Amino acid sequence: MAEIITESSQRQLRAELLAAVKALKSHVINQEKYAVGMEWKKVDRVQKNLIVDARNNEFDLNKICTDMAGCRLCPLGITRQNLVFGDGNPQAKIVFVGEAPGADEDEQGLPFVGRAGQLLTKIIEAMGLGRKDVYICNILKCRPPQNRNPLPAEIAACEPFLKQQLRSISPQIICALGTFAAKTLLKTEVPISVLRGRFHSYEGIKLMPTYHPAYLLRNPSAKKTVWEDVQLIMKELQN
Ligand code: URA
Repeated sequence: MAEIITESSQRQLRAELLAAVKALKSHVINQEKYAVGMEWKKVDRVQKNLIVDARNNEFDLNKICTDMAGCRLCPLGITRQNLVFGDGNPQAKIVFVGEAPGADEDEQGLPFVGRAGQLLTKIIEAMGLGRKDVYICNILKCRPPQNRNPLPAEIAACEPFLKQQLRSISPQIICALGTFAAKTLLKTEVPISVLRGRFHSYEGIKLMPTYHPAYLLRNPSAKKTVWEDVQLIMKELQN
């Protein structure tokens, strides 16, 4: 027998349908809110981890620096005025490694603050960066008397600290400034003129050797060559 749909049962059906649609709508909205909430939680977690990582890098560097404070592993620890540990951003994407502190650096306890340092600052600025964006340090943390070349025993004593420093920062790129930095980090006797202009690998990190700013002060025509190396670095930093 055909069911007779009365006006009142029609009204009831419509009301039930409306309630069902309303409930479904609210369920979908809640699900979306939950998903967005989870996304925010994820972002929050990532950001918190980044902050923790950033603090870790700084903490590690401070710890290495403190460990070195009274270093007497080589005789330079006795003749130095100040230990020149390094300076800049503990999360830097690029680390510049020079040779050893000079007189100005020894006096101020900061790397590359003399004439060569001013030129390095100009190079960094030409890259569209500031000293606060990068990290700067040296193979040796103490000044060799009369700025003589570092001795193998001094390099051997100091290198483990540099290794820890570079591991802590873990940059995308290392720029080795001059013969001593390039040869020490790459463990090679190949001259800088042959090494420069292409990336090498230092513990899995891309390393670009280029001429030392002090060399550029004596040989300004080599600035063009350094600029070519710097442009390769800038291109790599965009990756
Ligand atoms: N030359 C270097 O190699 N390092 C400095 O810090 C200053 C000059």
